[in-house]
Amino acid sequence: MIYLDNNATTPIDPEVFDAMEPYLKEEYGNPSSKYYLKAENAKKAVEKAREQVASLINSDPTEIIFTGGASESNNFIIKGVADYQKFIENSGNHIITSKVEHKAVLQTCKFLNGEVFMNSEENNMYAPKVDRGYEVTFLDVNEYGQVSTENLSNNINDNTILTSLIWGNNEIGSLNDILSLAKVCKEKDILFHSDATQVLGKLDIDISKVPVDFLSFSAHKLYGPKGVGAAFIRSGEFLMPDITALIHGGSQEYGYRAGTHAVHNIVGFGKACEIAKRDMNDYIEKIKKSEIEVRNALKEKFNNIVFLGDPNNHIPGTISFILPDKHNELYIKQISDRIAISSGSACSINEPSYVLDAIGRKNDNTHFFRMSIGKFEKTIHNKLNSI
Ligand SMILES: Cc1ncc(COP(=O)(O)O)c(C=O)c1O
Repeated sequence: MIYLDNNATTPIDPEVFDAMEPYLKEEYGNPSSKYYLKAENAKKAVEKAREQVASLINSDPTEIIFTGGASESNNFIIKGVADYQKFIENSGNHIITSKVEHKAVLQTCKFLNGEVFMNSEENNMYAPKVDRGYEVTFLDVNEYGQVSTENLSNNINDNTILTSLIWGNNEIGSLNDILSLAKVCKEKDILFHSDATQVLGKLDIDISKVPVDFLSFSAHKLYGPKGVGAAFIRSGEFLMPDITALIHGGSQEYGYRAGTHAVHNIVGFGKACEIAKRDMNDYIEKIKKSEIEVRNALKEKFNNIVFLGDPNNHIPGTISFILPDKHNELYIKQISDRIAISSGSACSINEPSYVLDAIGRKNDNTHFFRMSIGKFEKTIHNKLNSI
Protein backbone atom coordinates (compact mmCIF):
# COMPACT_ATOMS: atom_id res chain seq x y z
CA MET A 1 0.00 0.00 0.00
CA ILE A 2 1.45 3.37 -1.04
CA TYR A 3 0.40 6.27 1.17
CA LEU A 4 0.28 9.49 -0.85
CA ASP A 5 -2.06 11.62 1.24
CA ASN A 6 0.49 13.35 3.46
CA ASN A 7 -1.26 16.73 3.11
CA ALA A 8 -4.21 15.18 4.94
CA THR A 9 -1.99 13.77 7.65
CA THR A 10 1.43 12.18 8.02
CA PRO A 11 2.40 8.98 9.83
CA ILE A 12 4.12 9.58 13.13
CA ASP A 13 7.92 9.51 12.97
CA PRO A 14 9.24 6.66 15.20
CA GLU A 15 11.65 9.14 16.84
CA VAL A 16 8.64 11.32 17.70
CA PHE A 17 6.78 8.35 19.13
CA ASP A 18 9.76 7.44 21.32
CA ALA A 19 9.99 11.00 22.62
CA MET A 20 6.28 11.04 23.48
CA GLU A 21 5.99 7.64 25.15
CA PRO A 22 7.39 8.53 28.60
CA TYR A 23 4.87 11.38 28.87
CA LEU A 24 2.02 8.91 28.35
CA LYS A 25 3.45 6.53 30.92
CA GLU A 26 5.56 7.55 33.91
CA GLU A 27 5.86 11.31 33.31
CA TYR A 28 2.17 12.11 33.63
CA GLY A 29 2.51 15.25 35.76
CA ASN A 30 0.53 18.40 35.08
CA PRO A 31 2.93 21.21 34.13
CA SER A 32 0.71 23.72 35.90
CA SER A 33 1.13 21.91 39.23
CA LYS A 34 3.92 22.98 41.53
CA TYR A 35 7.12 21.84 43.19
CA TYR A 36 7.09 18.05 42.90
CA LEU A 37 9.29 16.38 40.31
CA LYS A 38 6.62 15.07 37.93
CA ALA A 39 5.14 18.54 37.54
CA GLU A 40 8.56 20.12 37.05
CA ASN A 41 9.53 17.48 34.48
CA ALA A 42 6.34 18.08 32.54
CA LYS A 43 6.89 21.84 32.65
CA LYS A 44 10.47 21.43 31.38
CA ALA A 45 9.26 19.17 28.57
CA VAL A 46 6.71 21.75 27.41
CA GLU A 47 9.31 24.53 27.47
CA LYS A 48 11.82 22.39 25.59
CA ALA A 49 9.19 21.73 22.93
CA ARG A 50 8.47 25.47 22.70
CA GLU A 51 12.16 26.04 21.99
CA GLN A 52 12.19 23.30 19.35
CA VAL A 53 9.18 24.77 17.52
CA ALA A 54 10.58 28.31 17.77
CA SER A 55 13.96 27.17 16.50
CA LEU A 56 12.43 25.73 13.31
CA ILE A 57 11.14 29.18 12.29
CA ASN A 58 13.87 31.23 14.01
CA SER A 59 11.48 32.91 16.46
CA ASP A 60 11.69 33.50 20.18
CA PRO A 61 10.14 30.67 22.25
CA THR A 62 7.84 33.19 23.96
CA GLU A 63 6.24 33.83 20.58
CA ILE A 64 4.91 30.26 20.36
CA ILE A 65 1.48 29.46 21.84
CA PHE A 66 0.50 25.79 21.84
CA THR A 67 -3.01 25.02 20.61
CA GLY A 68 -5.09 22.00 19.69
CA GLY A 69 -4.06 22.25 16.01
CA ALA A 70 -4.13 24.61 13.07
CA SER A 71 -7.92 24.98 12.99
CA GLU A 72 -7.75 26.31 16.52
CA SER A 73 -4.73 28.52 15.73
CA ASN A 74 -6.58 30.06 12.77
CA ASN A 75 -9.69 30.67 14.89
CA PHE A 76 -7.64 32.08 17.76
CA ILE A 77 -5.66 34.47 15.59
CA ILE A 78 -8.46 35.73 13.36
CA LYS A 79 -11.14 36.03 16.04
CA GLY A 80 -8.60 37.26 18.60
CA VAL A 81 -7.22 40.02 16.39
CA ALA A 82 -10.68 40.97 15.11
CA ASP A 83 -11.99 41.31 18.65
CA TYR A 84 -9.00 43.24 19.94
CA GLN A 85 -8.82 45.65 17.02
CA LYS A 86 -12.54 46.35 16.93
CA PHE A 87 -13.37 46.53 20.62
CA ILE A 88 -10.12 47.50 22.35
CA GLU A 89 -8.25 49.52 19.74
CA ASN A 90 -11.32 50.77 17.86
CA SER A 91 -9.25 50.64 14.72
CA GLY A 92 -11.62 49.04 12.22
CA ASN A 93 -13.73 46.06 11.23
CA HIS A 94 -12.43 44.95 7.84
CA ILE A 95 -10.58 41.67 7.22
CA ILE A 96 -8.97 40.54 3.99
CA THR A 97 -8.52 36.91 3.05
CA SER A 98 -8.70 34.88 -0.17
CA LYS A 99 -11.13 32.49 -1.84
CA VAL A 100 -8.76 29.51 -1.53
CA GLU A 101 -8.05 29.46 2.21
CA HIS A 102 -8.48 26.36 4.31
CA LYS A 103 -11.97 26.11 5.77
CA ALA A 104 -10.65 26.94 9.23
CA VAL A 105 -9.90 30.43 7.89
CA LEU A 106 -12.84 30.76 5.49
CA GLN A 107 -15.51 29.69 7.96
CA THR A 108 -13.98 31.80 10.72
CA CYS A 109 -14.16 34.85 8.49
CA LYS A 110 -17.71 33.97 7.47
CA PHE A 111 -18.62 33.61 11.14
CA LEU A 112 -17.33 37.14 11.73
CA ASN A 113 -19.23 38.66 8.80
CA GLY A 114 -22.40 36.83 9.82
CA GLU A 115 -22.61 34.47 6.82
CA VAL A 116 -21.95 31.33 8.81
CA PHE A 117 -22.86 30.24 12.30
CA MET A 118 -22.29 26.50 12.31
CA ASN A 119 -19.84 24.53 10.20
CA SER A 120 -21.93 22.32 7.96
CA GLU A 121 -24.33 23.79 5.41
CA GLU A 122 -27.13 21.72 6.91
CA ASN A 123 -26.96 22.98 10.49
CA ASN A 124 -26.08 26.45 9.28
CA MET A 125 -29.48 26.61 7.55
CA TYR A 126 -31.29 26.58 10.87
CA ALA A 127 -28.94 29.00 12.61
CA PRO A 128 -29.75 32.63 13.21
CA LYS A 129 -27.81 35.21 11.21
CA VAL A 130 -25.96 37.48 13.59
CA ASP A 131 -24.44 40.82 12.62
CA ARG A 132 -21.08 40.84 14.37
CA GLY A 133 -20.10 44.06 12.68
CA TYR A 134 -17.22 42.78 10.56
CA GLU A 135 -16.69 43.01 6.83
CA VAL A 136 -14.59 40.49 4.96
CA THR A 137 -13.11 40.71 1.45
CA PHE A 138 -12.40 37.35 -0.17
CA LEU A 139 -9.72 38.07 -2.76
CA ASP A 140 -9.70 36.47 -6.20
CA VAL A 141 -6.68 34.37 -7.12
CA ASN A 142 -4.81 33.56 -10.35
CA GLU A 143 -4.94 30.24 -12.23
CA TYR A 144 -2.56 28.77 -9.66
CA GLY A 145 -4.55 29.97 -6.66
CA GLN A 146 -2.19 32.79 -5.73
CA VAL A 147 -3.01 36.33 -4.57
CA SER A 148 -1.21 39.22 -6.24
CA THR A 149 0.28 42.12 -4.31
CA GLU A 150 -1.71 44.60 -6.49
CA ASN A 151 -4.99 42.88 -5.66
CA LEU A 152 -4.16 42.91 -1.96
CA SER A 153 -3.02 46.51 -2.00
CA ASN A 154 -6.13 47.68 -3.88
CA ASN A 155 -8.42 46.09 -1.32
CA ILE A 156 -6.90 47.58 1.83
CA ASN A 157 -8.97 50.43 3.21
CA ASP A 158 -9.01 52.66 6.29
CA ASN A 159 -10.95 50.04 8.25
CA THR A 160 -8.69 47.08 7.44
CA ILE A 161 -7.36 45.44 10.58
CA LEU A 162 -6.04 42.08 9.39
CA THR A 163 -5.01 40.16 6.28
CA SER A 164 -4.96 36.37 6.37
CA LEU A 165 -3.47 34.49 3.40
CA ILE A 166 -2.47 30.86 3.14
CA TRP A 167 1.25 30.13 2.63
CA GLY A 168 0.99 26.79 0.78
CA ASN A 169 -2.35 25.65 -0.57
CA ASN A 170 -3.39 22.27 0.83
CA GLU A 171 -5.34 21.25 -2.29
CA ILE A 172 -3.31 22.39 -5.27
CA GLY A 173 0.01 23.02 -3.53
CA SER A 174 0.81 26.50 -4.86
CA LEU A 175 2.79 28.85 -2.65
CA ASN A 176 1.76 32.46 -2.13
CA ASP A 177 4.59 35.00 -2.23
CA ILE A 178 4.21 35.61 1.50
CA LEU A 179 7.28 37.85 1.73
CA SER A 180 5.88 40.36 -0.79
CA LEU A 181 2.30 40.11 0.49
CA ALA A 182 3.37 40.66 4.11
CA LYS A 183 5.47 43.65 3.03
CA VAL A 184 2.40 45.27 1.43
CA CYS A 185 0.62 44.98 4.77
CA LYS A 186 3.60 46.21 6.79
CA GLU A 187 3.88 49.33 4.61
CA LYS A 188 0.24 50.10 5.36
CA ASP A 189 0.49 49.10 9.02
CA ILE A 190 -1.96 46.21 8.67
CA LEU A 191 -1.52 43.03 10.74
CA PHE A 192 -0.67 39.96 8.65
CA HIS A 193 -1.45 36.30 9.34
CA SER A 194 -0.56 33.28 7.26
CA ASP A 195 -1.83 29.74 7.62
CA ALA A 196 1.53 28.00 7.30
CA THR A 197 0.23 24.52 8.17
CA GLN A 198 1.28 22.89 4.91
CA VAL A 199 4.74 24.44 4.74
CA LEU A 200 6.14 23.94 8.23
CA GLY A 201 9.02 21.50 7.94
CA LYS A 202 8.75 21.50 4.14
CA LEU A 203 10.21 24.96 3.48
CA ASP A 204 12.90 26.84 5.31
CA ILE A 205 10.89 29.47 7.21
CA ASP A 206 12.85 32.27 8.87
CA ILE A 207 10.49 34.78 10.41
CA SER A 208 13.33 37.25 11.01
CA LYS A 209 13.23 37.77 7.23
CA VAL A 210 9.46 37.68 6.63
CA PRO A 211 7.39 40.41 8.31
CA VAL A 212 4.42 38.24 9.32
CA ASP A 213 2.70 38.97 12.64
CA PHE A 214 0.96 35.61 13.04
CA LEU A 215 1.33 32.05 11.73
CA SER A 216 -0.67 28.85 12.24
CA PHE A 217 0.83 25.36 12.44
CA SER A 218 -0.23 21.77 13.05
CA ALA A 219 1.98 18.89 14.22
CA HIS A 220 0.29 16.12 12.25
CA LYS A 221 1.43 17.52 8.91
CA LEU A 222 5.11 17.06 9.79
CA TYR A 223 5.18 13.56 11.29
CA GLY A 224 3.99 14.67 14.72
CA PRO A 225 0.81 13.70 16.61
CA LYS A 226 -2.72 14.86 15.84
CA GLY A 227 -4.53 17.33 18.08
CA VAL A 228 -1.69 19.75 18.71
CA GLY A 229 -0.43 22.80 16.89
CA ALA A 230 0.78 26.29 17.55
CA ALA A 231 0.21 29.94 16.86
CA PHE A 232 3.23 32.12 16.25
CA ILE A 233 2.51 35.60 17.60
CA ARG A 234 5.21 38.16 16.99
CA SER A 235 6.03 40.01 20.20
CA GLY A 236 5.08 43.63 20.23
CA GLU A 237 7.17 46.41 21.68
CA PHE A 238 5.88 45.68 25.18
CA LEU A 239 5.80 41.89 24.78
CA MET A 240 2.01 41.97 25.01
CA PRO A 241 0.59 40.88 21.66
CA ASP A 242 -2.69 42.58 20.80
CA ILE A 243 -4.98 39.59 20.65
CA THR A 244 -7.91 38.31 22.69
CA ALA A 245 -7.87 34.71 23.97
CA LEU A 246 -10.14 32.21 22.23
CA ILE A 247 -10.39 29.70 25.07
CA HIS A 248 -10.92 31.30 28.45
CA GLY A 249 -10.10 29.64 31.75
CA GLY A 250 -6.75 28.91 33.36
CA SER A 251 -3.64 30.97 32.73
CA GLN A 252 -1.70 28.40 30.69
CA GLU A 253 0.17 29.64 27.61
CA TYR A 254 0.71 33.15 29.02
CA GLY A 255 -3.05 33.43 29.46
CA TYR A 256 -3.75 33.11 25.74
CA ARG A 257 -4.94 29.50 25.76
CA ALA A 258 -6.57 27.92 28.78
CA GLY A 259 -6.59 24.18 29.35
CA THR A 260 -4.25 21.55 30.73
CA HIS A 261 -1.33 21.06 28.39
CA ALA A 262 -1.39 17.86 26.30
CA VAL A 263 2.21 17.28 27.34
CA HIS A 264 2.78 14.12 25.26
CA ASN A 265 1.45 15.84 22.13
CA ILE A 266 3.44 18.99 22.73
CA VAL A 267 6.61 16.94 23.27
CA GLY A 268 5.88 15.10 20.01
CA PHE A 269 5.35 18.36 18.14
CA GLY A 270 8.63 19.72 19.49
CA LYS A 271 10.50 16.57 18.47
CA ALA A 272 8.93 16.68 14.99
CA CYS A 273 10.18 20.25 14.59
CA GLU A 274 13.66 19.31 15.79
CA ILE A 275 13.80 16.49 13.23
CA ALA A 276 12.44 18.75 10.47
CA LYS A 277 15.15 21.29 11.16
CA ARG A 278 17.91 18.68 11.38
CA ASP A 279 16.86 16.91 8.15
CA MET A 280 15.47 19.86 6.16
CA ASN A 281 17.96 19.87 3.28
CA ASP A 282 17.92 16.10 2.79
CA TYR A 283 14.15 16.02 3.11
CA ILE A 284 13.56 18.67 0.45
CA GLU A 285 16.06 17.09 -1.92
CA LYS A 286 14.56 13.63 -1.50
CA ILE A 287 10.94 14.75 -1.86
CA LYS A 288 11.67 16.88 -4.91
CA LYS A 289 13.46 13.99 -6.62
CA SER A 290 10.62 11.66 -5.80
CA GLU A 291 8.10 14.22 -7.07
CA ILE A 292 9.80 14.49 -10.45
CA GLU A 293 9.80 10.70 -10.79
CA VAL A 294 6.12 10.47 -9.87
CA ARG A 295 5.16 13.27 -12.27
CA ASN A 296 7.01 11.49 -15.09
CA ALA A 297 5.39 8.16 -14.24
CA LEU A 298 1.96 9.80 -14.23
CA LYS A 299 2.60 11.47 -17.59
CA GLU A 300 3.58 8.12 -19.05
CA LYS A 301 0.51 6.38 -17.68
CA PHE A 302 -2.09 9.06 -18.41
CA ASN A 303 -1.34 10.93 -21.61
CA ASN A 304 -4.17 13.44 -21.12
CA ILE A 305 -3.19 14.41 -17.55
CA VAL A 306 -3.33 18.14 -16.71
CA PHE A 307 -1.18 19.22 -13.77
CA LEU A 308 -2.49 22.07 -11.62
CA GLY A 309 -0.72 24.49 -9.31
CA ASP A 310 2.33 26.64 -9.86
CA PRO A 311 4.98 24.41 -11.50
CA ASN A 312 7.81 26.45 -10.00
CA ASN A 313 6.45 27.54 -6.63
CA HIS A 314 4.65 24.77 -4.85
CA ILE A 315 4.89 22.69 -1.68
CA PRO A 316 7.55 20.03 -2.32
CA GLY A 317 5.77 16.74 -2.88
CA THR A 318 2.27 18.05 -3.63
CA ILE A 319 1.05 16.95 -7.06
CA SER A 320 -2.44 18.04 -8.09
CA PHE A 321 -3.92 17.09 -11.41
CA ILE A 322 -6.96 16.44 -13.56
CA LEU A 323 -7.63 13.13 -15.30
CA PRO A 324 -10.38 14.07 -17.76
CA ASP A 325 -11.65 10.52 -18.27
CA LYS A 326 -11.52 9.31 -14.66
CA HIS A 327 -14.16 10.02 -12.05
CA ASN A 328 -12.13 10.83 -8.91
CA GLU A 329 -14.31 9.24 -6.22
CA LEU A 330 -14.86 6.06 -8.22
CA TYR A 331 -11.23 5.73 -9.26
CA ILE A 332 -9.86 6.43 -5.77
CA LYS A 333 -12.19 3.77 -4.38
CA GLN A 334 -11.19 1.32 -7.11
CA ILE A 335 -7.46 1.60 -6.35
CA SER A 336 -7.83 2.11 -2.60
CA ASP A 337 -6.35 -1.28 -1.66
CA ARG A 338 -3.06 -0.34 -3.39
CA ILE A 339 -2.71 3.40 -3.01
CA ALA A 340 -4.09 6.20 -0.82
CA ILE A 341 -4.65 9.45 -2.69
CA SER A 342 -7.32 12.08 -2.38
CA SER A 343 -9.78 14.14 -4.36
CA GLY A 344 -9.06 17.31 -2.39
CA SER A 345 -9.08 18.53 1.16
CA ALA A 346 -10.05 16.08 3.90
CA CYS A 347 -12.02 18.89 5.54
CA SER A 348 -14.33 19.39 2.54
CA ILE A 349 -14.57 15.80 1.41
CA ASN A 350 -18.28 15.76 0.60
CA GLU A 351 -18.42 19.08 -1.19
CA PRO A 352 -17.15 20.30 -4.55
CA SER A 353 -13.80 22.05 -4.22
CA TYR A 354 -14.12 25.83 -3.89
CA VAL A 355 -10.40 26.00 -4.69
CA LEU A 356 -11.01 24.56 -8.17
CA ASP A 357 -13.92 26.97 -8.55
CA ALA A 358 -11.67 29.92 -7.65
CA ILE A 359 -9.01 28.94 -10.21
CA GLY A 360 -11.63 28.65 -12.97
CA ARG A 361 -11.84 24.85 -13.04
CA LYS A 362 -15.25 24.26 -11.56
CA ASN A 363 -16.14 21.78 -14.31
CA ASP A 364 -13.18 19.59 -13.44
CA ASN A 365 -14.38 18.96 -9.91
CA THR A 366 -15.08 15.27 -10.41
CA HIS A 367 -11.76 14.68 -12.19
CA PHE A 368 -9.45 16.31 -9.66
CA PHE A 369 -6.79 14.32 -7.77
CA ARG A 370 -4.14 15.17 -5.22
CA MET A 371 -1.06 13.17 -4.34
CA SER A 372 1.16 14.33 -1.51
CA ILE A 373 4.45 12.54 -1.03
CA GLY A 374 5.88 11.80 2.41
CA LYS A 375 9.35 10.96 3.63
CA PHE A 376 8.69 7.31 4.42
CA GLU A 377 7.56 6.13 0.97
CA LYS A 378 10.29 4.63 -1.19
CA THR A 379 10.53 4.43 -5.02
CA ILE A 380 6.89 5.30 -5.50
CA HIS A 381 7.08 5.80 -9.25
CA ASN A 382 7.85 2.11 -9.85
CA LYS A 383 4.75 1.12 -7.93
CA LEU A 384 2.42 3.43 -9.87
CA ASN A 385 2.08 0.82 -12.60
CA SER A 386 -0.20 -1.10 -10.29
CA ILE A 387 -2.90 1.58 -10.31
C1 LIG B 1 -3.75 24.65 5.31
C2 LIG B 1 -4.39 23.98 6.49
N1 LIG B 1 -4.84 24.73 7.50
C3 LIG B 1 -5.42 24.18 8.58
C4 LIG B 1 -5.58 22.83 8.69
C5 LIG B 1 -6.26 22.26 9.92
O1 LIG B 1 -5.33 21.64 10.73
P1 LIG B 1 -5.76 20.79 12.00
O2 LIG B 1 -6.15 19.45 11.47
O3 LIG B 1 -4.55 20.72 12.85
O4 LIG B 1 -6.87 21.50 12.67
C6 LIG B 1 -5.13 22.00 7.65
C7 LIG B 1 -5.31 20.53 7.74
O5 LIG B 1 -5.97 19.93 6.95
C8 LIG B 1 -4.52 22.59 6.53
O6 LIG B 1 -4.10 21.85 5.50
